[in-house]
Amino acid sequence: MRGPWQGGEPKAGSCFGHANEREDVGLASVAEFDSVGLRYGTGAEVLSDLDFRLTQGGFYFLTGASGAGKTSLLKLLYLAQRPTRGRVRLFGEEMSEATRDALPHFRRRIGVVFQDFRLIRHLSAFDNVALPLRIRGASEAEVDGPVREMLAWVGLADRASARPATLSGGEQQRVAIARAVINRPDLLVADEPTGNVDAELANRLMHLFTALNRLGTTVIIATHDIGLISATPGAQLVRLENGTMVDPTGLLRNPPRPGGSAQ
Ligand SMILES: Nc1ncnc2c1ncn2[C@@H]1O[C@H](COP(=O)(O)OP(=O)(O)OP(=O)(O)O)[C@@H](O)[C@H]1O
Ligand SMILES: [Mg+2]
Repeated sequence: MRGPWQGGEPKAGSCFGHANEREDVGLASVAEFDSVGLRYGTGAEVLSDLDFRLTQGGFYFLTGASGAGKTSLLKLLYLAQRPTRGRVRLFGEEMSEATRDALPHFRRRIGVVFQDFRLIRHLSAFDNVALPLRIRGASEAEVDGPVREMLAWVGLADRASARPATLSGGEQQRVAIARAVINRPDLLVADEPTGNVDAELANRLMHLFTALNRLGTTVIIATHDIGLISATPGAQLVRLENGTMVDPTGLLRNPPRPGGSAQ
Protein backbone atom coordinates (compact mmCIF):
# COMPACT_ATOMS: atom_id res chain seq x y z
CA MET A 1 0.00 0.00 0.00
CA ARG A 2 1.23 3.46 -0.85
CA GLY A 3 1.17 5.97 1.94
CA PRO A 4 0.91 9.70 1.36
CA TRP A 5 4.63 10.09 1.92
CA GLN A 6 5.58 7.26 -0.43
CA GLY A 7 8.69 8.11 -2.39
CA GLY A 8 9.67 10.77 0.08
CA GLU A 9 9.24 9.68 3.68
CA PRO A 10 10.17 12.35 6.18
CA LYS A 11 13.75 11.73 7.15
CA ALA A 12 15.48 13.20 10.14
CA GLY A 13 18.42 15.25 8.95
CA SER A 14 16.99 16.12 5.56
CA CYS A 15 18.29 19.46 4.43
CA PHE A 16 16.19 22.40 3.37
CA GLY A 17 14.74 21.98 -0.08
CA HIS A 18 15.05 25.30 -1.82
CA ALA A 19 12.65 25.72 -4.70
CA ASN A 20 15.36 26.63 -7.15
CA GLU A 21 17.14 23.32 -6.62
CA ARG A 22 14.19 21.42 -7.95
CA GLU A 23 13.75 21.16 -11.66
CA ASP A 24 10.03 20.36 -11.56
CA VAL A 25 9.00 23.59 -9.85
CA GLY A 26 8.25 26.73 -11.77
CA LEU A 27 7.42 29.88 -9.92
CA ALA A 28 3.68 29.75 -10.16
CA SER A 29 1.87 31.77 -7.51
CA VAL A 30 0.25 29.76 -4.78
CA ALA A 31 -1.14 32.88 -3.14
CA GLU A 32 -1.31 36.47 -4.34
CA PHE A 33 -2.47 39.38 -2.21
CA ASP A 34 -3.33 42.62 -3.98
CA SER A 35 -3.94 45.73 -1.81
CA VAL A 36 -5.51 43.56 0.87
CA GLY A 37 -6.97 45.06 4.01
CA LEU A 38 -8.82 43.40 6.87
CA ARG A 39 -10.87 44.83 9.71
CA TYR A 40 -12.95 42.98 12.25
CA GLY A 41 -16.42 44.50 12.57
CA THR A 42 -16.24 48.27 12.73
CA GLY A 43 -12.76 48.40 14.24
CA ALA A 44 -9.63 49.81 12.63
CA GLU A 45 -7.86 47.79 9.96
CA VAL A 46 -5.68 45.11 11.51
CA LEU A 47 -4.07 44.39 8.13
CA SER A 48 -3.44 47.09 5.53
CA ASP A 49 -2.09 47.30 2.00
CA LEU A 50 -0.78 43.77 1.79
CA ASP A 51 0.81 43.16 -1.62
CA PHE A 52 2.78 39.98 -1.90
CA ARG A 53 2.84 36.55 -3.41
CA LEU A 54 3.92 33.16 -2.22
CA THR A 55 5.44 31.05 -4.95
CA GLN A 56 5.11 27.32 -5.44
CA GLY A 57 7.65 25.39 -3.41
CA GLY A 58 8.60 28.41 -1.28
CA PHE A 59 9.30 28.25 2.45
CA TYR A 60 8.30 31.32 4.44
CA PHE A 61 8.48 32.40 8.04
CA LEU A 62 5.99 35.02 9.17
CA THR A 63 7.17 37.04 12.13
CA GLY A 64 6.01 40.08 14.05
CA ALA A 65 5.08 41.13 17.57
CA SER A 66 2.04 39.72 19.33
CA GLY A 67 -1.00 41.44 17.83
CA ALA A 68 0.82 42.39 14.61
CA GLY A 69 -1.67 40.39 12.55
CA LYS A 70 0.04 37.05 11.83
CA THR A 71 -2.95 34.86 12.63
CA SER A 72 -5.23 37.24 10.74
CA LEU A 73 -3.04 37.00 7.63
CA LEU A 74 -2.97 33.21 7.87
CA LYS A 75 -6.77 33.16 8.19
CA LEU A 76 -7.01 34.99 4.87
CA LEU A 77 -4.73 32.34 3.38
CA TYR A 78 -6.72 29.38 4.62
CA LEU A 79 -10.03 31.04 3.74
CA ALA A 80 -11.38 31.47 7.25
CA GLN A 81 -11.69 35.21 6.58
CA ARG A 82 -12.48 37.25 3.52
CA PRO A 83 -10.58 40.51 3.11
CA THR A 84 -12.55 43.71 3.65
CA ARG A 85 -10.74 45.21 0.67
CA GLY A 86 -8.33 44.11 -1.99
CA ARG A 87 -8.04 40.76 -3.70
CA VAL A 88 -6.74 37.35 -2.70
CA ARG A 89 -5.92 34.77 -5.35
CA LEU A 90 -5.22 31.19 -4.35
CA PHE A 91 -3.82 28.62 -6.75
CA GLY A 92 -4.45 31.10 -9.55
CA GLU A 93 -8.13 31.61 -8.73
CA GLU A 94 -9.76 34.82 -7.59
CA MET A 95 -11.26 34.04 -4.19
CA SER A 96 -13.75 36.93 -4.18
CA GLU A 97 -15.36 35.33 -7.23
CA ALA A 98 -15.37 31.82 -5.80
CA THR A 99 -18.79 30.59 -4.75
CA ARG A 100 -19.36 29.31 -1.25
CA ASP A 101 -19.66 25.81 -2.70
CA ALA A 102 -16.24 26.08 -4.30
CA LEU A 103 -14.38 26.94 -1.09
CA PRO A 104 -14.13 23.39 0.34
CA HIS A 105 -12.29 22.36 -2.83
CA PHE A 106 -9.62 24.99 -2.14
CA ARG A 107 -9.53 24.29 1.59
CA ARG A 108 -8.76 20.63 0.93
CA ARG A 109 -5.52 21.71 -0.76
CA ILE A 110 -4.43 23.57 2.39
CA GLY A 111 -3.13 21.98 5.59
CA VAL A 112 -3.58 24.15 8.67
CA VAL A 113 -1.92 23.97 12.08
CA PHE A 114 -4.06 26.28 14.23
CA GLN A 115 -2.50 28.29 17.03
CA ASP A 116 -5.06 26.71 19.38
CA PHE A 117 -4.86 23.23 17.72
CA ARG A 118 -8.64 22.77 17.18
CA LEU A 119 -8.60 19.02 17.58
CA ILE A 120 -11.96 17.32 17.58
CA ARG A 121 -12.62 16.54 21.23
CA HIS A 122 -14.56 13.30 20.90
CA LEU A 123 -12.11 11.74 18.43
CA SER A 124 -8.91 9.89 19.35
CA ALA A 125 -5.51 11.14 18.20
CA PHE A 126 -5.64 8.48 15.48
CA ASP A 127 -9.06 9.59 14.23
CA ASN A 128 -8.11 13.26 14.30
CA VAL A 129 -5.10 12.56 12.09
CA ALA A 130 -7.15 10.24 9.85
CA LEU A 131 -9.81 12.88 9.22
CA PRO A 132 -8.34 14.53 6.10
CA LEU A 133 -7.79 11.11 4.50
CA ARG A 134 -11.33 9.98 5.29
CA ILE A 135 -12.79 13.25 3.99
CA ARG A 136 -10.88 12.59 0.77
CA GLY A 137 -12.63 9.22 0.59
CA ALA A 138 -9.67 6.97 1.44
CA SER A 139 -10.56 3.40 2.44
CA GLU A 140 -9.74 2.22 5.96
CA ALA A 141 -6.93 0.09 4.49
CA GLU A 142 -5.41 3.27 3.04
CA VAL A 143 -5.79 5.16 6.30
CA ASP A 144 -4.20 2.90 8.89
CA GLY A 145 -0.58 2.75 7.68
CA PRO A 146 -0.08 6.44 6.92
CA VAL A 147 -1.76 7.56 10.16
CA ARG A 148 0.39 5.24 12.28
CA GLU A 149 3.49 6.33 10.39
CA MET A 150 2.67 9.98 10.93
CA LEU A 151 1.88 9.50 14.64
CA ALA A 152 5.20 7.67 15.04
CA TRP A 153 7.00 10.51 13.29
CA VAL A 154 5.66 13.06 15.76
CA GLY A 155 6.52 10.72 18.64
CA LEU A 156 2.98 9.67 19.53
CA ALA A 157 2.81 6.06 18.35
CA ASP A 158 1.73 4.94 21.82
CA ARG A 159 -0.96 7.65 22.19
CA ALA A 160 -3.03 6.77 19.12
CA SER A 161 -6.18 6.01 21.09
CA ALA A 162 -5.94 8.99 23.46
CA ARG A 163 -8.58 11.74 23.36
CA PRO A 164 -7.22 15.31 23.06
CA ALA A 165 -8.25 16.22 26.63
CA THR A 166 -5.89 13.57 27.99
CA LEU A 167 -2.91 14.85 25.98
CA SER A 168 -0.45 17.56 27.02
CA GLY A 169 -0.34 20.83 25.08
CA GLY A 170 2.75 19.71 23.17
CA GLU A 171 1.16 16.35 22.38
CA GLN A 172 -2.00 18.03 21.10
CA GLN A 173 0.13 20.32 18.97
CA ARG A 174 1.87 17.31 17.43
CA VAL A 175 -1.48 15.65 16.62
CA ALA A 176 -2.55 18.92 14.97
CA ILE A 177 0.64 18.94 12.89
CA ALA A 178 0.22 15.30 11.87
CA ARG A 179 -3.37 16.06 10.78
CA ALA A 180 -2.25 19.09 8.77
CA VAL A 181 0.46 17.29 6.81
CA ILE A 182 -0.99 13.79 6.31
CA ASN A 183 -2.60 14.69 3.00
CA ARG A 184 0.54 16.30 1.60
CA PRO A 185 -1.27 19.59 1.02
CA ASP A 186 -0.24 22.03 -1.71
CA LEU A 187 -0.02 24.76 0.93
CA LEU A 188 0.80 24.29 4.61
CA VAL A 189 -0.14 27.14 6.94
CA ALA A 190 1.19 26.70 10.47
CA ASP A 191 0.51 29.18 13.28
CA GLU A 192 3.20 28.92 15.99
CA PRO A 193 3.44 25.15 15.40
CA THR A 194 6.31 24.64 17.82
CA GLY A 195 5.13 26.97 20.56
CA ASN A 196 4.47 24.16 23.02
CA VAL A 197 7.38 21.78 22.48
CA ASP A 198 11.02 21.72 23.54
CA ALA A 199 13.88 22.63 21.22
CA GLU A 200 14.71 19.05 20.26
CA LEU A 201 11.14 18.27 19.30
CA ALA A 202 10.81 21.60 17.50
CA ASN A 203 13.82 20.61 15.44
CA ARG A 204 12.26 17.28 14.57
CA LEU A 205 9.01 18.92 13.55
CA MET A 206 10.95 21.35 11.36
CA HIS A 207 12.41 18.34 9.55
CA LEU A 208 8.87 17.24 8.86
CA PHE A 209 8.02 20.65 7.37
CA THR A 210 11.19 20.80 5.28
CA ALA A 211 10.61 17.24 4.02
CA LEU A 212 7.09 18.22 3.01
CA ASN A 213 8.48 21.32 1.32
CA ARG A 214 10.94 19.18 -0.64
CA LEU A 215 8.00 17.18 -1.92
CA GLY A 216 6.52 20.37 -3.35
CA THR A 217 4.37 21.88 -0.60
CA THR A 218 4.56 25.63 -0.13
CA VAL A 219 5.05 26.25 3.60
CA ILE A 220 4.31 29.35 5.68
CA ILE A 221 4.98 29.27 9.40
CA ALA A 222 4.17 32.04 11.87
CA THR A 223 6.71 31.97 14.66
CA HIS A 224 8.55 34.03 17.24
CA ASP A 225 11.30 31.43 17.41
CA ILE A 226 14.50 32.96 16.06
CA GLY A 227 16.33 29.64 16.55
CA LEU A 228 13.91 27.92 14.22
CA ILE A 229 14.35 30.58 11.56
CA SER A 230 18.13 30.58 11.69
CA ALA A 231 18.17 26.78 11.48
CA THR A 232 16.33 26.91 8.15
CA PRO A 233 18.67 28.43 5.58
CA GLY A 234 17.05 29.65 2.40
CA ALA A 235 13.65 30.30 3.93
CA GLN A 236 12.20 33.74 3.29
CA LEU A 237 11.35 35.96 6.19
CA VAL A 238 8.13 37.98 6.10
CA ARG A 239 7.64 40.52 8.86
CA LEU A 240 4.43 42.22 9.92
CA GLU A 241 4.50 45.50 11.81
CA ASN A 242 1.19 46.97 12.90
CA GLY A 243 -0.65 45.15 10.16
CA THR A 244 1.60 46.07 7.26
CA MET A 245 4.26 43.96 5.69
CA VAL A 246 7.89 44.88 5.87
CA ASP A 247 9.54 43.72 2.68
CA PRO A 248 12.60 45.93 2.33
CA THR A 249 14.18 43.81 -0.42
CA GLY A 250 11.02 43.65 -2.52
CA LEU A 251 11.56 39.92 -2.84
CA LEU A 252 7.94 39.08 -2.14
CA ARG A 253 6.67 41.33 -4.88
CA ASN A 254 9.32 40.28 -7.36
CA PRO A 255 10.51 36.77 -6.53
CA PRO A 256 13.84 35.87 -8.15
CA ARG A 257 13.71 33.85 -11.36
CA PRO A 258 15.85 30.73 -11.39
CA GLY A 259 19.34 31.80 -12.42
CA GLY A 260 18.20 35.40 -12.86
CA SER A 261 18.02 38.60 -10.86
CA ALA A 262 15.19 39.71 -8.59
CA GLN A 263 13.68 41.86 -11.32
N1 LIG B 1 -11.93 37.99 15.90
C1 LIG B 1 -11.41 39.18 16.15
N2 LIG B 1 -12.20 40.25 16.40
C2 LIG B 1 -11.68 41.48 16.64
N3 LIG B 1 -10.35 41.74 16.65
C3 LIG B 1 -9.51 40.72 16.41
C4 LIG B 1 -9.98 39.39 16.16
N4 LIG B 1 -8.91 38.58 15.96
C5 LIG B 1 -7.82 39.36 16.08
N5 LIG B 1 -8.17 40.65 16.37
C6 LIG B 1 -7.25 41.78 16.54
O1 LIG B 1 -6.44 41.83 15.37
C7 LIG B 1 -5.10 42.20 15.70
C8 LIG B 1 -4.17 41.12 15.13
O2 LIG B 1 -4.42 39.91 15.81
P1 LIG B 1 -3.74 38.55 15.39
O3 LIG B 1 -4.35 37.47 16.19
O4 LIG B 1 -3.81 38.44 13.91
O5 LIG B 1 -2.22 38.83 15.85
P2 LIG B 1 -0.97 37.84 15.95
O6 LIG B 1 0.17 38.53 15.26
O7 LIG B 1 -1.35 36.50 15.47
O8 LIG B 1 -0.67 37.81 17.52
P3 LIG B 1 -0.04 36.61 18.45
O9 LIG B 1 1.45 36.62 18.19
O10 LIG B 1 -0.38 37.06 19.84
O11 LIG B 1 -0.71 35.32 18.07
C9 LIG B 1 -5.05 42.33 17.20
O12 LIG B 1 -5.14 43.67 17.52
C10 LIG B 1 -6.28 41.57 17.68
O13 LIG B 1 -6.77 42.12 18.86
MG1 LIG C 1 -1.47 34.65 16.38
